[in-house]
Amino acid sequence: MGLMLVGWGGNNGSTLTAALEANKHSLEWRTRHGVQKANWYGSITQSSTVLLGSDASGQDVYIPMNELVPMVNPNDIVVDGWDISSLNIGESMKRAQVLEVGLQDQVYKRLAQMRPRPSIYDPDFIAANQAERADNTIQGTRYEQYQQIVKDIREFKQQSGVDKVVILWTANTERFAEVKDGLNTTMADLERSLKQNHSEISPSTIFAMAAIAENCIYINGSPQNTFVPGVIEMAEHYGAFIAGDDFKSGQTKLKSVLVDFLVSAGIKPVSIVSYNHLGNNDGKNLSAPQQFRSKEISKSNVVDDMVASNHILYGADEHPDHCVVIKYVPYVGDSKRAMDEYTSQIMLGGHNTLVIHNTCEDSLLATPLILDLAILGELCSRIQIRRKEPAGAEFVPFRSVLSLLSYLCKAPLVPHGTPVVNSLFRQRTAIENILRACVGLPPLSHMTLEHRFDLPIGENQSEGVQHIVKKARVNGTVPMANGTSEKCNGVHNGDAHRSEKVSSH
Ligand SMILES: NC(=O)c1ccc[n+]([C@@H]2O[C@H](COP(=O)([O-])OP(=O)(O)OC[C@H]3O[C@@H](n4cnc5c(N)ncnc54)[C@H](O)[C@@H]3O)[C@@H](O)[C@H]2O)c1
Repeated sequence: MGLMLVGWGGNNGSTLTAALEANKHSLEWRTRHGVQKANWYGSITQSSTVLLGSDASGQDVYIPMNELVPMVNPNDIVVDGWDISSLNIGESMKRAQVLEVGLQDQVYKRLAQMRPRPSIYDPDFIAANQAERADNTIQGTRYEQYQQIVKDIREFKQQSGVDKVVILWTANTERFAEVKDGLNTTMADLERSLKQNHSEISPSTIFAMAAIAENCIYINGSPQNTFVPGVIEMAEHYGAFIAGDDFKSGQTKLKSVLVDFLVSAGIKPVSIVSYNHLGNNDGKNLSAPQQFRSKEISKSNVVDDMVASNHILYGADEHPDHCVVIKYVPYVGDSKRAMDEYTSQIMLGGHNTLVIHNTCEDSLLATPLILDLAILGELCSRIQIRRKEPAGAEFVPFRSVLSLLSYLCKAPLVPHGTPVVNSLFRQRTAIENILRACVGLPPLSHMTLEHRFDLPIGENQSEGVQHIVKKARVNGTVPMANGTSEKCNGVHNGDAHRSEKVSSH
């Protein structure tokens, strides 16, 4: 598979390229904490497991997600891309200041051979503070720029020999483009506006149009409205796949878990205040008001579906106060700080306030999501379903807007007229159950009636085996077989002697 990154020389682009190299060659490097090995922590396809079901003795069986159905192996991904900055990817990695020097030194030579292709630069769409790095740009009208991108895609396909190409925007956040009848609300309008060199056609929309026309999958990792209605119509027309918007990496991911938990527990969040500061180039770009506004919109709607799900807590037009602040503080670099305060009403007028402080390298959270988006996007392009009745019904592919990738997106794009789901657990369950369906397994319901009712687990089971697999909730001191005792806390998937001797309290 080919992965073409728009913004290849940025923090995410260079970190992903280094991570692919590190994992492909199983690199290790020394840090002050010891030897670190390459891994894909933070990627659901590479580092998470899915529950298959129970084995013959009633025990849960988990397997890596990427073993459930055939998925692209990250080692088989060929990376390419564009950037308005001409630095090679080795130098871009150094500029990003994300990775340990011990790793940088090992991948530098290979990365230094990779050069981003010139890109479409329109200073009206990204912050003015990016101008100094824009030394690698495509000249000409918007239509000529579009034609160059199409040419680049074809050239890459031909040179690399890849079967499929995913194009992913991880370039700077653009301001929102105007959406207007006659400009971009239909495919015909959009194509005409492109040819007329209309100034409201953004660089990201041009990339999306080129990707769709070349039957590539196009994914938007930033918040801007690349997918104006004309682009969506175009994707549907060409039968191409698109997904977005904006990687759901840290603060928003936690929000889509926490608010889900609170609302589903019958607790009423009334105020959510999210404050961030970061010092990387993304933060610099977002320090401009119009680009910040794109991010603010993307971050703001994330609790809507959860609030709407509970009419006991919220009236028809009621919504928690929700405020998002982002500040640029160069010194902290890629180590982003996110501080969140959640105030909720609890029983009889009481209040519950949760304060969360999150510090971590922004790009090390986002990069595994790029991998997952590309791998799951490619997988979706190969899945088709059909109805059982009538016999011989045609197989149909996913609709062009891949809402299954919502798990990885802050502001999920969904097919027209379908509900937006922000809740992380629902989003993940959808992925797991669709993958299960691909191998003929029923959806997971977690009913586990066999554990809750006094039913025999398996026909051939002896009493002894059933006794061993019983799960015990152990809190406190557990007597061991050798006469000693051990402190335990939590759920214990018991082994023989522990389960026998535990008495829970
Ligand atoms: N945790 C995260 O890192 C995270 C989470 C969600 C969304 N995002 C979004 O991902 C994007 C990338 O983040 P980053 O930290 O890598 O930013 P970055 O600023 O380090 O990288 C962006 C790159 O895009 C390039 N660029 C700008 N306009 C371009 C264009 N028209 N064509 C080609 N290249 C262009 C820049 O030169 C730069 O190298 C941002 O929009 C950010 O908001 C990041």
